[in-house]
Amino acid sequence: MLVTSKELLLDAQKNGYAVGAFNTNNLEITQAIVRAAEAKRAPVLIQISAGALKYAGVDFLPMLVSKAAQIATVPVAIHLDHGPDFKTVISCLRAGFTSIMRDASKLPYGENVAEVRKVVEVCHAVGVPVEAEIGRIGGAEEHVVVSDREAAMSDPDECARFAEDGGFDFLAVAIGNAHGFYKGEPKLDFDRLTAIRERVSIPLVLHGASGIPDAQITRAVESGICKINIDTEIRNAFIRTMQDYTQKNPDQIDPRKVFGPCIDAMQAVVERKIEIFRSAGRA
Ligand code: G3H
Ligand code: ZN
Repeated sequence: MLVTSKELLLDAQKNGYAVGAFNTNNLEITQAIVRAAEAKRAPVLIQISAGALKYAGVDFLPMLVSKAAQIATVPVAIHLDHGPDFKTVISCLRAGFTSIMRDASKLPYGENVAEVRKVVEVCHAVGVPVEAEIGRIGGAEEHVVVSDREAAMSDPDECARFAEDGGFDFLAVAIGNAHGFYKGEPKLDFDRLTAIRERVSIPLVLHGASGIPDAQITRAVESGICKINIDTEIRNAFIRTMQDYTQKNPDQIDPRKVFGPCIDAMQAVVERKIEIFRSAGRA
């Protein structure tokens, strides 16, 4: 069933687990996410980025995901991931999204607040919650000096001020997390996360969670992270499985035969994440 992310994240916050937010670009990834959620009886967010909208069509992909959410036997929210501008937010609201991220984190503080407030006003008018970000969720950090690494992270006092000034519903934090594959061993800054948690009462979001060791994910959930984003590990499962299958079956030209094992592999990734996030059995 289609729900808003607010109800999912508030329950997660109350009960000490995190809801998985999994990126989709097409039918097969969407099927894998919904099948995993149903198999684990877990609530999920299916998230769509601006890049996914560009690839699959601003009408087509939201329509497909909306239908999948409506017929799912577990609660599903449709989320705009890293919303780049006001225009994209409006088209997603029209398309039936039940959760919006406006990512203006690259802008100076005042402009980030102003952009987020504009989006909050329209989204809240139609009952849709908003995620915002402060700090920079970067790439791999191994060659970055410590002071630079810390400068890019979310400052706890600024997080509190941002939440107050922005009036949004969930806060994405930069605590050593990065998008894509990590080059070295990721090391989340748990002292920083705890300090943010002490100052901010709304649910916290962890981006760039692919490749973060399970023990750190568990600790992040115990430290107050309520939404965890996964994209790269799903992509990896999809493409590696496809490469493997086509190498072993070079004459196979039926996409259904090729994509079947890919969906299974992606479903396995999502199911595993749901277990680590402690959201299994919460639907
Ligand atoms: O917004 C999407 C996620 O933060 C993706 O993170 O590249 O670690 O899967 P990932
Ligand atoms: Zn992200």
